[in-house]
Amino acid sequence: MPVSKILSIVGARPQFVKAAVVSRALAAAGLAETLLHTGQHYDDNLSRIFFDQLGLPAPAYNLGVGSGAHGEMTGRMLIEIEKVLKTEQPDWVLVYGDTNSTLAGALAAAKLHIPIAHVEAGLRSYNRRMPEELNRVLTDHAADLLFTPTDDASQNLVVEGIPPDRIHQVGDVMYDAARQFGPLAPADVPARYGLAAGEYILATLHRAENTDEPARLAAILAALGQAGQPVLLPLHPRTRATLAAHPELATLAEALQVIEPVGYLEMLALERAARLIVTDSGGVQKEAYFQRVACVTVRDETEWVELVELGWNRLAPPESAAAVLAEIRAALDEPLPDDDDDLYGGGQAAERIAAILAGPK
Ligand code: UD1
Ligand code: UDP
Repeated sequence: MPVSKILSIVGARPQFVKAAVVSRALAAAGLAETLLHTGQHYDDNLSRIFFDQLGLPAPAYNLGVGSGAHGEMTGRMLIEIEKVLKTEQPDWVLVYGDTNSTLAGALAAAKLHIPIAHVEAGLRSYNRRMPEELNRVLTDHAADLLFTPTDDASQNLVVEGIPPDRIHQVGDVMYDAARQFGPLAPADVPARYGLAAGEYILATLHRAENTDEPARLAAILAALGQAGQPVLLPLHPRTRATLAAHPELATLAEALQVIEPVGYLEMLALERAARLIVTDSGGVQKEAYFQRVACVTVRDETEWVELVELGWNRLAPPESAAAVLAEIRAALDEPLPDDDDDLYGGGQAAERIAAILAGPK
């Protein structure tokens, strides 16, 4: 039987982490993979560092699409991805998560009748104002193979009428990544920032609903400043730009240790030693749990509902500093829940994906 040729599409930071473990598993299964980077993320500390640290092969194509409005960015990707697909004629297009790169890849492939496999399918916030929600719903409904991380994600797809034979609950590739790369994370990272293990809050903020709403961002920054613990904030450039445009926000951030985004290995080390994680990231919420560190999610909803149900994660809609601070204090004061079953598939998600792609279609 001929070995399938797979074209994987990545573009943003979390996709490099996910693709790193899947690429490895595809190679181990003898599958030929071509990597396409849309160029959505292009700063070295959002892109190149992940390729270097995680041993991802250099992309065969980098479209250099860069930043822009949603339609502009997605449109440019669509035009360029279509050209590559016509040249490469892959058997499968593999897309990850819920960014504009994901949607552009899925749409380009669907129009050319190339089968699509979606890694991290089925997640829902049920908030259509989020660009990510549109991206993931549309991608799921274009996909031929839907690799889900959790029970909840699989169930969401069934409810939406996706044929069950397309859905494969494989577990979470980010758990695979944390397990594979965790041993490489240097333990001295907190000390590099003058922090002691167990005595600081690690925060990340980049979600549009917070960065584009100064009042919400102010509530989060003020609460972090009053939390009574040192706060380390590796800051996404989007949020940095908002601070630069709003002096009152920059003033609030002076109470925090704001640093450039860090590499994945440094991030794992910082997460592992944190007393608490405060974030609006999807991936970081789960990484907190992988390290058994409590998390406060500064959003109105989360796709990773199981962590809230079990008490590892608390939602703190950033309506006011007091509301966020109350959740931070509760998370600091209350004991961690009992350790739990394996929610995310045991660390073999990438291998399962490769085995399914290698099998008969
Ligand atoms: C994107 C994804 C989001 C994901 C996040 C991961 C979409 C709609 N959003 O959000 O789902 O959680 O990536 O980090 O796809 N910028 C730089 N340098 C870069 C990249 C971006 O300075 O290398 C700045 C630009 O000002 C840009 C802004 O960040 O306009 C936002 O970048 P963009 O890729 O549009 O969205 P993210 O917020 O990164
Ligand atoms: N991450 C990182 N350095 C940072 C912030 C995040 O390596 O400074 C990693 C994090 O460990 C996780 C991924 O980036 O693996 C999450 O990406 P992000 O929060 O940008 O996007 P989301 O998961 O919300 O889509």
